[in-house]
Amino acid sequence: MIRWKEDFSVNDETIDGQHKKLITMLNELGDAMQRGQGRKILDKILNELVSYTQSHFAYEERAMRACGYPGYDEHKMKHEKMTQKVLEIMGELKSGSANITPEVRIFLENWLNKHILGSDKSYAPYLGRRAAV
Ligand code: FEO
Repeated sequence: MIRWKEDFSVNDETIDGQHKKLITMLNELGDAMQRGQGRKILDKILNELVSYTQSHFAYEERAMRACGYPGYDEHKMKHEKMTQKVLEIMGELKSGSANITPEVRIFLENWLNKHILGSDKSYAPYLGRRAAV
């Protein structure tokens, strides 16, 4: 389970709120897995998580462009790689060749942790400048 901590903040209320929601959704997935919920429920939570992640990425990319963040291309590429990876996982789950395992959840959790604390934090000073203009 991930817990929100101030270190995650990118000093933007909307994006922090989106990251908090992603953490909550990921924790819900972990919780449902621990409680042994059925595949249908897990699929539903995972689908919502993926869909929310995609809209978060789109929002964040618009914000990065709006403030002229120089690392935009690299950051967008990380979003695209993650989206691709998650779609691969979803494809495997759909075809029945894989299950939502703890490894899938841990992969998502590690990625989110690393991405917010690394890549997302890097644009934070630029968002501040945008707000000051
Ligand atoms: Fe908050 Fe770059 O994802």
